[in-house]
Amino acid sequence: MEKVLEVKDLHISFDIHAGEVQAVRGVSFDLYKGETLAIVGESGCGKSVTSKALMRLLPTPPSRIKQGEILFEGKDLTKLSEKEMQEIRGAKISMIFQDPMTSLNPTMTIGNQIMEVLLKHQKLSKNEARNRAIELLQLVGIKNPELRIKQYPHQFSGGMRQRVVIAMALACNPKVLIADEPTTALDVTIQAQILELMKDIQKKMGMSIIFITHDLGVVANVADRVAVMYAGKVVEIGTVDEIFYNPKHPYTWGLLASMPSLDHKDEELYSIPGTPPDLLNPPKGDAFAPRNPYAMKIDYELEPPMFKVSDTHYAATWLLHENAPKVEPPKVVQERMRQFALSSGKKGGEFRG
Ligand SMILES: Nc1ncnc2c1ncn2[C@@H]1O[C@H](COP(=O)(O)OP(=O)(O)OP(=O)(O)O)[C@@H](O)[C@H]1O
Ligand SMILES: [Mg+2]
Repeated sequence: MEKVLEVKDLHISFDIHAGEVQAVRGVSFDLYKGETLAIVGESGCGKSVTSKALMRLLPTPPSRIKQGEILFEGKDLTKLSEKEMQEIRGAKISMIFQDPMTSLNPTMTIGNQIMEVLLKHQKLSKNEARNRAIELLQLVGIKNPELRIKQYPHQFSGGMRQRVVIAMALACNPKVLIADEPTTALDVTIQAQILELMKDIQKKMGMSIIFITHDLGVVANVADRVAVMYAGKVVEIGTVDEIFYNPKHPYTWGLLASMPSLDHKDEELYSIPGTPPDLLNPPKGDAFAPRNPYAMKIDYELEPPMFKVSDTHYAATWLLHENAPKVEPPKVVQERMRQFALSSGKKGGEFRG
């Protein structure tokens, strides 16, 4: 499969008064043409910082890309000038943010905002841009687009605004769409509609999507592959099936265990004990060790490498070392794995061990 984006050993820090916040500490992943890669992990693990770095949207200072490469169309985005980046941002790589209001200008009509993006990146007449804006609103399911383009953001509902933001992000047929928690501000029904819409458009346009969320339930429905982040690192990466039916990292187990179950709606939710480490002083060894019931002595001393589970599945946990004791995921996780298997129609609800 064709790679559209390669992130290699990315390190990003923020220099603040108290010292250096090591927000991203060696993130690597590839993005393939037409796929959806989900990035999941608890608050503060570096999902937004990583994605903003791809768009070079982090202010410098206080942020600083310390190390690593972001390869796109034969160029390393970390090395481009702001002017070169402007040709890419919004045109070849675009981004949808969590809160649609932050991406829309309240004083400009929806039509003018979409046309602005089009006119900036494409050689279109004003009339052509206007027609394309109407087409885009239609594409994202907004009725009466001819009328709607003359209206302002406050005349739209939250779900409709998010559709407009998606239309703007798609205006120039980007190769990569980054969606950072695009539906968290929306209610469940609208959320599902927006996700359906994104999948639909992806099929039509063949773009690749990086989908950031802390909701693993959504991931199972929209993603092809999943990267699990913890404390500024990718600790496990694999296909959706590998992450849901054969998770290897105890942190991934914790995330799966803390998902609401499909059949016992009222049971108490599990949450991973403890809190993520302070990134001003990241611990040595495996940053998850203090919260990991399976931690061994080595976890406190040496950082685990990415161990290969399959050609597409890697996890950074010493439990995968040949000399480590064989441990099974906790019962509650095994139960979740079985539920996923059943709900996605896997035969007999079996999972690979
Ligand atoms: N401007 C900044 N100055 C200092 N630290 C920052 C800055 N922006 C982000 N950070 C730190 O970088 C780390 C990663 O933040 P990031 O926003 O990427 O988290 P996230 O995974 O997107 O979390 P959430 O799920 O809450 O959106 C956090 O520890 C955060 O405090
Ligand atoms: Mg975030």
